[in-house]
Amino acid sequence: MKDLIITIFGSTGDLTARKLLPAILRLHQEHEIPEKTQVVCLGRKELSKQAYLDYMNQFTTTKLDLSKLEPLVYYHQMEITKMEDYQPLVDYINSIKHEKTRELYYLAIGPELFPMVSKHINHSNLITMGNFNQSIIFEKPFGHDLESAKEVNQMLWNYFDEKQIYRIDHYLGKEMIQNIIMVRFANRIFEEIWHNRSIKNVKIFSKETDGILNRAGYYDQAGALKDMVQSHLLQMLSLIAMEVPISYYSEDVKNEKVKVLNHLSFEKESLIFAQYDGYLEEKNIPKDSTTETFVFLKLFVNKPRFKGVPFYLMTGKKLDRKESEIIIEFEETSEQRKWNLPLSTNKLRIKIAPLDGVGLVLNSKVPGLTGDVETVELEYCIACHAVGNLPEAYEKLLKDAYEHHKSLFTRWDEIELSWKFIDQVKKHQKHPMIYKDLNDLKPLIKDLTGEDM
Ligand code: BG6
Repeated sequence: MKDLIITIFGSTGDLTARKLLPAILRLHQEHEIPEKTQVVCLGRKELSKQAYLDYMNQFTTTKLDLSKLEPLVYYHQMEITKMEDYQPLVDYINSIKHEKTRELYYLAIGPELFPMVSKHINHSNLITMGNFNQSIIFEKPFGHDLESAKEVNQMLWNYFDEKQIYRIDHYLGKEMIQNIIMVRFANRIFEEIWHNRSIKNVKIFSKETDGILNRAGYYDQAGALKDMVQSHLLQMLSLIAMEVPISYYSEDVKNEKVKVLNHLSFEKESLIFAQYDGYLEEKNIPKDSTTETFVFLKLFVNKPRFKGVPFYLMTGKKLDRKESEIIIEFEETSEQRKWNLPLSTNKLRIKIAPLDGVGLVLNSKVPGLTGDVETVELEYCIACHAVGNLPEAYEKLLKDAYEHHKSLFTRWDEIELSWKFIDQVKKHQKHPMIYKDLNDLKPLIKDLTGEDM
């Protein structure tokens, strides 16, 4: 009998190979999930367990230790779109579970399959509405605009209780994003100055070196605005801009994040849509595609705390390096304005990738006999101090789901308001510029905003 059963729909896909199986294996090895865990991998192909695992190991970034994974996995062949294929699965799961078994059902499948698979899961009684030991987990794309997202959500509510639904935004599982609340509210030096009288602007960016990899079908429909801004960048923004929550319980934090998302406006003149050179030659991309792989926008959070403070959001593929960061830039001091010295502004850098950490940029006298000034950075690198490897975002999220913790999962109203905002931005979509690297776009960003990114 098993204490935890994780059933993966779409278990031959990229997400399962690169993220889910490695995360489950590590959680198990670290005793963060029960010894008696079973991973039920559903696939269309007729494969032996060994053949399945060998197949998956081709796609992982770091090879899986199959001798350790093998005892956890059960490969079950079925057609997930066929209702008649569900009964054998239900029978199998019933045969290995007991009354208290925690059951996670992970939909690592395309969004077009969500409605049908959810219906079958419900009609076959694989998940029973209101049984809180059973949860359904999935991630974006959650619709492609506000209307479609509402439809998907309503469909889910027809089959599952909200308490059973776990919507993943994997950025929320990243170490430094979890740490934003701590840095903001548990440090007096920041808590006291976290408002428009001290903060000059906020930059939130996520740069990637990869192109679209093998996701042409999805990506060409989505583009950078829907793929990254609607989810990850707006989540980061809401954590930076929210008011102090009543408590740090999940619902109270979400209530504050939602208020931010409900008060956004953007400057349409600031919008930049761009496409990397070579995108049209990618496999399965239409030769005349105008999908953006880069987007930049300036927006405002129209609440007293941040009134007038520009937030610059930027994300793109095929850029110079893989880097995600939030930079809070502070106003100059009045003394600083008077001195005729090359001083820079203070900046708090919240570093999300490649290395998680915090940096604080200060002005300092050059040591020694000189009176010159220099810009220095106090740095805290999380990975440099951690004992052992830091958990991956998916480890944290799977463990939280196992423990019924929902704070790092998104609530429907967050998604609803993000889409509402993105739909407005989308109305101003322009024909994309072509870029070879960020240097092609920097002058335009500088022209539009006066900012260096
Ligand atoms: C995903 C997007 O949500 O996040 C991808 O769909 C993107 O296009 C990825 O590459 C970036 O995530 P990370 O963790 O590598 O920054």
